[in-house]
Amino acid sequence: GGITKLVQSIQLIIRIYWLLDLAENSLLNKLIRKSLVESNHQVEVLQRDPSSPLFSVKTFEELHLKKELLQGIYEMGFNRPSKIQETALPMMLADPPQNLIAQSQSGTGKTAAFVLAMLSRVNGAEKFPQCLCLAPTYELAVQTGQVVEKMGKRCVNTRVTYAVRGNRIPRGTKIEEQIIIGTPGTVLDWCFKLRLLDAKKISVFVLDEADVMIDTQGFLDQSVRIQRTLPQDCQMLLFSATFEDAVLRFAEQIIPDPNIIKLRREEMTLTNIRQYYFLCENIQDKYKALCNIYGSITVGQAIIFCQTRRNAKWLSQELTRDGHKVSVLSGELTVEQRAAVIQRFRDGKEKVLVTTNVCARGIDVKQVTIVVNFKLPTNQLRCPDFETYLHRIGRTGRFGKKGLAFNMVERHNLPLLRSIEEHFSEYSIPIKPFDLSDLPSVAEELRQG
Ligand SMILES: Nc1ncnc2c1ncn2[C@@H]1O[C@H](COP(=O)(O)OP(=O)(O)O)[C@@H](O)[C@H]1O
Ligand SMILES: [Mg+2]
Repeated sequence: GGITKLVQSIQLIIRIYWLLDLAENSLLNKLIRKSLVESNHQVEVLQRDPSSPLFSVKTFEELHLKKELLQGIYEMGFNRPSKIQETALPMMLADPPQNLIAQSQSGTGKTAAFVLAMLSRVNGAEKFPQCLCLAPTYELAVQTGQVVEKMGKRCVNTRVTYAVRGNRIPRGTKIEEQIIIGTPGTVLDWCFKLRLLDAKKISVFVLDEADVMIDTQGFLDQSVRIQRTLPQDCQMLLFSATFEDAVLRFAEQIIPDPNIIKLRREEMTLTNIRQYYFLCENIQDKYKALCNIYGSITVGQAIIFCQTRRNAKWLSQELTRDGHKVSVLSGELTVEQRAAVIQRFRDGKEKVLVTTNVCARGIDVKQVTIVVNFKLPTNQLRCPDFETYLHRIGRTGRFGKKGLAFNMVERHNLPLLRSIEEHFSEYSIPIKPFDLSDLPSVAEELRQG
């Protein structure tokens, strides 16, 4: 019994860390994302009434929005709907309202889409909550609220409030804000314990970041409980960056009669990446190899992946001592600090970013031409972590820029390298041992982009 308990608590702890990671990554993405992720993938549509014509819009004018709202949209610098918005917005704004489940990768404009829908449906003259949006964390709720505030800046009578822990409102208070954004637990309290909120009067219900949500203990049940108290004719919208089976099942459970739309993710490829390896005896050896390539190739920026924080720290100190401008991204930084480091790197203030495994998942820096695996990515079982390898060095086909990857490998890890090579053999080129005589041609190729 004791052992089982112990194993269970360990599993729980691992799970909690994993969750923090999901929500934090999502927030990190939001903090560093300044513009839309454009996609050329087609939107797949599953309509609840397949016989009804499918509308899509190329301009915001076609949506016949209130002029204050349209003004707010333009003032945010949005000129036209994103790919997912082209299809989602007409569905969301249709009369009678339609329910929607939508999936597209983060940064494609989902949040902006449902904020627009909420602002469009709200009646500013009425002073009670009409739209309810659930988010997985306090921080993500605040991010969404800021979008509401920006987009609704010209809608003078429309206001937003946050149902999040820490926002204490005395029992019996009459909430006048029309839009409520909150986390499931606090929203439940507001509905039932404190009776601040009459769920029966909600006309738009949004469940954002559903994939993060269902991974969070208790949120699934809480969301279902909230959803059940909503009126029949309440419009229900659900958004997710991914559509694993569990997410889709949850989505279909919580959203009755939905239209479903999805935008496929960009495929990563390794075909335009030159991959090399260096055989190294120890960490000093690796450092020497790194200096050799870095001394000779000065095009663009580099990311160096280390296994541990300690290694990352050591490496950045060595590099700094040798006169390189380096920034370090690692787990002890807060999400805001991480976002700031990534931003500086994106702005080119530092040419080299040293990072550990954990933090780099969300980064997408197009100008990076060199990726160095100071250690090959492995999972807890010390098996090669193919997914991570692909995400570190792969590029999406459309931004098919050339890239260069260096792997620092100890002799005993050569089999790891071989299995990575083998795994990607269909859409990759061989990982060659690096030869200094390759340098001029590599440098030339990088110059040409
Ligand atoms: N139609 C649009 N035109 C220009 N920028 C947009 C548009 N829609 C969203 N954005 C911007 O793109 C970024 C990502 O949008 P967001 O709605 O947060 O995406 P998601 O919720 O899918 O992650 C934000 O900075 C947002 O302001
Ligand atoms: Mg979003």
